[in-house]
Amino acid sequence: MTTRPRVLLTEPVFSEVSDLLEQHVELDIGRRGQYNSVKSLGDAICDYDGLLSMLSNPVTSSVVERAQKLRIIANHAVGYNNIDTEACRKAGIRVANTPDVLTDATADGTLALLLATVRHIPASQDFLRNGEFDGWHPTTFLGPELKECTLGIIGMGRIGQAVALRCRSFGMKIMYHNRSRLNAKTERHLEAEYTSDPHHLAKSCDIITLHCPLTDETHHIIDEAFFRSMKSSAYLINAARGPVVDETALARALHENQIAGAGIDVFEEEPKVHPDLLSAPNAVLVPHITSATYTTRRAMGMLAAGAILNELCGMDHKCNFVV
Ligand code: DGY
Repeated sequence: MTTRPRVLLTEPVFSEVSDLLEQHVELDIGRRGQYNSVKSLGDAICDYDGLLSMLSNPVTSSVVERAQKLRIIANHAVGYNNIDTEACRKAGIRVANTPDVLTDATADGTLALLLATVRHIPASQDFLRNGEFDGWHPTTFLGPELKECTLGIIGMGRIGQAVALRCRSFGMKIMYHNRSRLNAKTERHLEAEYTSDPHHLAKSCDIITLHCPLTDETHHIIDEAFFRSMKSSAYLINAARGPVVDETALARALHENQIAGAGIDVFEEEPKVHPDLLSAPNAVLVPHITSATYTTRRAMGMLAAGAILNELCGMDHKCNFVV
């Protein structure tokens, strides 16, 4: 009898995903957050041929060193900055992620956060629930008119482009900064103007939204100097990765009203949130949910499981390898 490959799924996902894996591999499923430390993941990893990881699981070089049998890591996310891909490459471990299936949900979620932020939805709800609503007034909870705004997008990949299209339909002007400029046809389609200078974007835009991956180049790309360049009436939206923004500088910019507000989905040290962000009244803070739809989260799981089955069982599921 041939032994089936062993796979660790670090926490529960949709049952369709674990059922599919269980048909072909020996599957162990962790508890929520059980493998969010290098120690817990490193202690477990030597037993497995495959790992289906969450973006909160730190697959560092020291974890990879202990992964003697591991052949595949499938990350249940499009971002894979939690994985030391160089160490995986050297160890001959394949790495897969989940692009495309979350583009629309993340763009929709970004719009929800953007609108909630600039139109003060959470703050006005608190006001109402606190019994402070004393009737309609012409000057309470005012925000910008979107069709008069320029949106600045940093990171114009699939999600950035999907956000651009949605915001064009609100009549916003689009400016973007990206590692490489889009081709002329795509720029025309999106009606987006390119700038090679993030500070020019900071100075020109009324709302700035981040959709770049976290890399050495993008770490703290939004820093104190960037906030100094922004208009005092402008808003920052971050649905990319926390460390793209210097959170201490953001908290200061919010408290000192250097910018009008921020909508933040991702944090530098998730699940911790900087206390000065928690106390900033002009920040809308949500717990990394912009991709959270039933369809998308299920599809992300299936794509990740497909990569595991292709690598360990020679199957032919749709998947995307980055290493
Ligand atoms: C991802 O897939 O990288 C997203 O952050 C999940 O929402």
